[in-house]
Formats: sequence, C-alpha cells, structure tokens
Amino acid sequence: MDAPSWLVLKFGGTSVATPERWRTIATVAQRYVADGYRPVLVCSALSGISDQLENLVQEAAAGASPDATLAAVRAQHAALADGVGVSPDGLDALWATLEARVETIAAQGAATPADRAAVLGMGELLSTRLGEAILAAHDVPATWIDARQHLRAADAPHLPPARRYGSATCSVYPDPVTQQHLAQTTDAVCITQGFIASNALGETVLLGRGGSDTSAAYFAALLDAERLEIWTDVPGLFTTNPHDVPAARLLKQLSYDEAQELATMGGSILHPRCLAPVRQYDIPLHVRSTNAPAIDGTVISPDVPDTGPQVKALSAKTGITAIRMDTLGMWQEVGFLADVFAVFKHHGLSVDLVATSEANVTVTLDPMANALDPEVIDRLVHDLGAYCTARVVRGCGVVSLVGRHIRALLHELGPALEVFDEQQIYMVSQAASDLNFSFVVDEEQAPRLVHKLHDILFAARTPDATFGPTWSELVADEAPAPAAEAWWHARRDDLLALAADATPTYVYDEATLRARAADLQSLAAVDRVFYAIKANPHPAVLRTLADAGLSFECVSPGEVERVQTALPDHPARGILFQPNFAAPDEYRRAFARGVRVTLDNVQPLAEHPALFAGQEIFARIDPGAGRGHHRHVRTAGAQSKFGMVPDDLSALRRAADAAGTRITGLHVHVGSGITEPSTWAELARFLASLADAFPHVETLNVGGGLGVPRAPGAPGLDLAALDEQLTAFKREHPHLALWMEPGRFLVAEAGVLLARVTQTKTKGPVHYVGLDAGMHTLLRPALYGSYHPIVNLSRLDAPAAHTVQVVGPICESGDVLGRSRRLPDTAPGDVLLISTVGAYGASMSLPYNLRPAAREALLTP
Ligand code: LLP
Repeated sequence: MDAPSWLVLKFGGTSVATPERWRTIATVAQRYVADGYRPVLVCSALSGISDQLENLVQEAAAGASPDATLAAVRAQHAALADGVGVSPDGLDALWATLEARVETIAAQGAATPADRAAVLGMGELLSTRLGEAILAAHDVPATWIDARQHLRAADAPHLPPARRYGSATCSVYPDPVTQQHLAQTTDAVCITQGFIASNALGETVLLGRGGSDTSAAYFAALLDAERLEIWTDVPGLFTTNPHDVPAARLLKQLSYDEAQELATMGGSILHPRCLAPVRQYDIPLHVRSTNAPAIDGTVISPDVPDTGPQVKALSAKTGITAIRMDTLGMWQEVGFLADVFAVFKHHGLSVDLVATSEANVTVTLDPMANALDPEVIDRLVHDLGAYCTARVVRGCGVVSLVGRHIRALLHELGPALEVFDEQQIYMVSQAASDLNFSFVVDEEQAPRLVHKLHDILFAARTPDATFGPTWSELVADEAPAPAAEAWWHARRDDLLALAADATPTYVYDEATLRARAADLQSLAAVDRVFYAIKANPHPAVLRTLADAGLSFECVSPGEVERVQTALPDHPARGILFQPNFAAPDEYRRAFARGVRVTLDNVQPLAEHPALFAGQEIFARIDPGAGRGHHRHVRTAGAQSKFGMVPDDLSALRRAADAAGTRITGLHVHVGSGITEPSTWAELARFLASLADAFPHVETLNVGGGLGVPRAPGAPGLDLAALDEQLTAFKREHPHLALWMEPGRFLVAEAGVLLARVTQTKTKGPVHYVGLDAGMHTLLRPALYGSYHPIVNLSRLDAPAAHTVQVVGPICESGDVLGRSRRLPDTAPGDVLLISTVGAYGASMSLPYNLRPAAREALLTP
C-alpha cells in the first residue's frame, strides 16, 4: 500500500468558535478524504479562551475566586456544543483536571511556569475534544490525537523556566513512528491540538502565543505532509494588514524567504516560527480562510518564480523598545559588540534590528520575542553601563518594506520615502538578506506611514501572478456594510431631498449631537465640558450643545463672537478663550467681554501686566510629548508651538504676582484623535504634580482630543475606561475640579457631506468618480490622509462593482476624497454621502479656486 498523502490543516481560534465555521471545517475535511488524502486537523482554543485561562491562573495565584472565570470558560464551550446539538459531556474529565490544577495554584498562592502551561494548554484539549464530537455529528468521524505524544520540546536547560514552559521549540524531522501511529487510526481524519507539546518529564509546555501555526508546521514535517494549510479569518497574506488598509491586495504566491520576512516583520497572519519546519522539507504552505473558503488564498512554496526586484508588502510592528548605546570607545575597539550583546544574552533578550556607527549602536527588542518587563530593562541598562551609555526609547514602531532585492529598488523608492519627511526616525535597517528595509519611528506614526506608503507603492498596481484582488473586492462586497447602523441610513429620503435642493451640503443630525453630549455629560469624574467650537461652529450645532448643558471653548475673537451671537443669553463665564500667539489686544477684548482666559506663554503677562491686573486666568502647560492621529494635530513637545514648559512656571508665578493676577487653573491639551483612554488621567496627574506651586489653582482642564473610530469597525475610545481612570484620580485629588474641552467627539459622527457626481472617467487601470465637493469642501483627506467612508446614496443597495478614486474639481492632484473605494455602477447626477465629517469638515473649508462653500443644514428628528 502506498504511504498515505497527509494534509495538515490548522484552524485558529475564530475558526473553531462557531457552529458555522465547524460546518466549513467538516466540509473541507470531507472533501479531502474523498480526494484520497488523510487530513490532520490542528486546532487552537476557542477564541478568547486562552486569555480567560491566563486570567484564571492569575486569579488563583492572587487568592481571588476563579469561579466566575471558570464558569465563563465552561459556558462558552457549552454554547458551542449546544449550537451544534452535541453533548458537552465528553469534556467532563478535562474540567476536573483543570479545576484540580487551579486549586493547586490557589493552595500554593503562586503559579509556576509549569502550572501556567498546564492551565493554558487546556484550551486546546477542550476545543479538540469538542471538535471530535462536532465532526462526528457532521458524519466526519475523526480520531483524537494527543499532540504531546508527538511533539517533544527540545531540551534547553540554559533558558529561564518561563521560556522553557511558555515558548518552547521542538526539532522535527519526518518521523516514521508518528506516521505509523496516525496511519493506524481507524478514522481517515485525525484531530489534534495546536500550541502544546511535552518536555522530557512528560509535562505540558507551550509553543508561545500564536504557537498553533508552529504546531501544525511541526506535524507537517513529522508526517512529511503533501501540504500544510493554515485556515484563519483572513483569506491569505496581503500587501499590508487589510483591516487597516482595505485597498491591500492578496499576495497569491510568495517564497518561504518572503513569507518568513513578512511574518517576522509584523504581518500577524502567520506565526514567524511556523515557516522553518515546512521550508526545511519543501512542504508547500497555503493560507486560507474559513470565512471565505472559496478564495484560494496565498501559496508559499519553493517553486515561486523570481519576479526580479519588487516590494511585495508593507508591515508595521508596534510596542517595540529601542536601546541606544553611545560610546566613544568603540572606534576600532576589539570585542565591543561581543561585550554588549553578551549583556542582552545574559538577560534572556533577543535582539531584532541592529544599526551601528562609530559612536552608537542601536538595537530593537520585539515584544513578540521577549517579555519586556521594566525591571529586566532596568537591569539591562544598568549592566550595559559598564560598556556604554544606554538609553531606552519605548513606544517605537517598525515600518518595513518587504520584498526581493530591495537594494536594487532604492532609487525608485524616493517619492515613497517622502512620507518620512519630518518624522523622527530612530533607525533605518536594511536586512543583509536584502528582503526588508525597515524604519524605526514613533509607534503612533506607524499605521499612518503604512497607509501612505501603501498608497504610493501599490495603489496603481493591477492583478498579476503575484498580486491578486484587493481586500475590499474580495470581502467587503459580501460583508454587510459595517456602518449599517449609522443614523443616516434611516434618514436617506430626507437626505436625498436636501441634496435635490443643493449640493454640496453638510448635514448635521441633531439626535446624534444630543446623544454624544449626553455621553460626555454622564462622565462622573468630569465637572464641566466645554465644546471646542473650532470643530464645527455652525449656530444650530452650538444651540443644540448649549441646550444639552455644554460650555464653549474658543480660540479666536471671531469664535467668541460666534458663540455670543448664536447664543445671546449664554453666560460669558461659560466661554473659555484660549488663543495661541495672540496679540495683546485680543486678551484685552476677551477680559472686556468677561470670558475666561487661558494664557500659554509668560511673555504677554510679563510685558503687559496692566492688561492682566486683577484677573483670574488659567495657564496652559506643555507636558513634553504630544499624541494624536497626525503630526499636525499633536500639540506638545518642543516642536509644537503651544504651552509653557514646566521650567517656565517660576517665571509665570513671578509675573502673575507682579501683575496681581491669580492663576486659578492649569490646562493641557496634547493633541487630537486620541483613543487611548488613560491619556486624560495621566495628564491630570501631570497637572496635579505642578499645582502645588500655585496656591489658587482649583481646576485642572485636561483638554480635548477624544477620538472617534477612524473607519467603520476600527477601535474607538472607551469612555467608561476614561471615566474610571479619571474617577480614580479624583479620589486622590478631591479638591480639584476637572474640565474637558472636546470638539471632534461631539460632532464628527453627527455630520455627513452630500455631494453630486459630476463626471466619471477611466485612465488606464484607474477609474475616477468626480464630485462637486473636493478638498476645498473637506480638507482632511488631503491634509492628513484621513479616511472618511463614502457610499452612493442614490444606489445604496446596489452591489459594489468598481474600485475608484473619488475626486473633486480642484486644480491639485491631491484633491482626492477617497482612494480605492468600492462603489456600485455610478453615474453623473448620483448623490454620494461622505460620513463622519461633522468635525473639522465645514470649519476647515477653503475658498481656493473661488469655488463656493458647501451649504450646511441641521436635520431635526
Ligand atoms: N482644546 C484645544 C486647546 C485644542 O487645540 C483643540 C483642537 C481641542 C481642544 C479640541 O480637540 P478635539 O477634541 O476636537 O480633538 N483639524 C484637525 C484637528 C485639529 C485640532 C486642533 N485643536 C483634524 O481635522 O483632525
């Protein structure tokens, strides 16, 4: 009898979490059996379970009751069993083992690395036992195999226990014993676990987070499989992460080298360790999706033709720590690098990128490969001190161009590299293999740079043997639009009627404005909310927000006047005037109107004391580092013109005392479009640390900057978490009032722009849809590369049919409102709707080319 043709199929957490996905798994397995293959299914734990098990370990070790977590883990498995209609009883023995281990941890009051591995490994044992029952229910009988009998961790006594138990490796080769064992099973299909292996003592060890890919690759090597298929929730590898850049193209084929580079440089679809075992035995690897099983995905194999120099993908990694080591003694010294790298080795740290010069060596540490605990880094820096001055740069991102022979392409990359203009680049690294070219930048910049670079490098590409369709073409057409819940769906007829009167028109939804105002008014820790009217000073918007109880933040005399004209009864003390580089006369007029004033420089106070005499003012402080969605909106740090640095504060106090001015509040605003909820509590703490020097300070204004989701489905700001952290701050500082001054959060999602299609055009591979709105109407895409969803409101239900550039009528090539957007057949006269433009839309419009401003309208319930 011929040796069986093994196929190893790996299914990740989301692929094994629902009855529908299991139906796909059963169908795939059945089809392969019919084709004469022996499929071996390697499964992850149900999605979310590994995290829950990690919580369980921590709870038990800390003496907290693990009951709720255990119940949640059980409930998730029971729900899946119930959804398929199978009994979960087969899991009983596993529950008993899990509970016993948790009890041991609780009794010890601590979890050893072996305990942790044993508990986390239960996720895969549970999912595969349940999977065995589910497959049987689909008439696909499968034999359950314990992966630990076949995957033995390599002995590594020199590594710390956390690594040996938590991130083990196995050395594998085609193994007749495993082949024979699996060949003798009665069922054509085998099901086994990802993530786990065993050590020489027979204990469970883990292959590291995401290690199920590696398990599957090990099994493929042991069985000398014909193919390894990794089934995940994305149908292949893409030119960049398609969740961030929907114009990303499927990569139809890649060499092992390229795939390895992509996995290592941050394409999070494949685990970097899974390629070596298949590459060693020339086993092709296919990446496919249980979400879209009809798509062929990506094939990684030894037979990929060399297409010459080419960038194939872009990746970004965040959470990177860079270590900069300066020394004067390195020049022509023997052994300097050996000495410093020995220190990294001693601390169990694996170095990623390296750049050296005569006086500096900079390396990066990847959190995927290292547990970057601050104490370890402190000890590392201390020990490096014997050889050099070491500095830690946290919060770095690595943006990498991945492809072949990149060196030969450098001259063509010039325009693409312009996106790094004015970015702080901590290091540039070109892989000796010539497969990647990487830039280390601030991590907040990484996603934006990837976006822009992708546009420059791939937007004009058409499908060929390497590049397939775009993500939006593949998936977005089938998926329901994630924005289906947005308010404007229910108001389509009203919007089309408004558009029939005139376009372009900005429309603001009163109900959404009220809802957002209520969200902010419900923050327990915030005493007062000032709406930053620069986001949208339309009188009807101001009236709606005033009705909801908000005060107003203004940055120019014009804005103050707008509030006072639109709301004649609004109290002057409910207006905060916070200009930047304003002439003295602006302060004079503001005091005359009785509005509150924030000063962000000592000079006006020192030079015009009479102007400020007897007044109470706030002082704006620069905490040194800005945040936000784009360089232009980060308003702190030496490169930003706002605020005074803490070193200025003694001069401020002297000037205030001399002028007879009281500093009653401190203010900070670090940037716009921030979604990290801890930001404002951190700023409050920063201001509180300075407040002691100012006896009259009773209020801290922690600014605005609250972000909204960049695109449908993207993460937004967790307001509850923000409130919780500010509340904790308030408990420590009960005598300080807290104010905020958001703009965008209140108005962005309430606004849409209606524009009419003027013309369509096709040039080579690129289709254009032209509108009567452009960068003069909505500047954000041209200025910041911002993404705003666009739909054809006239044909809302028609299927997407084309990938187009949505452009305006302005005489600039940058007049693009949306790139690579999916639209249905679209014709002149159609009305397109651009959403999430209520903030910084109309307020930033320009008279450029003497095209008129868009009309604005409020939509009432
Ligand atoms: N407070 C101060 C001192 C500010 O400078 C700003 C905005 C805000 C509050 C309100 O920030 P928000 O909550 O809206 O993020 N045109 C850019 C945004 C510029 C923000 C300028 N300052 C954009 O379209 O993204």
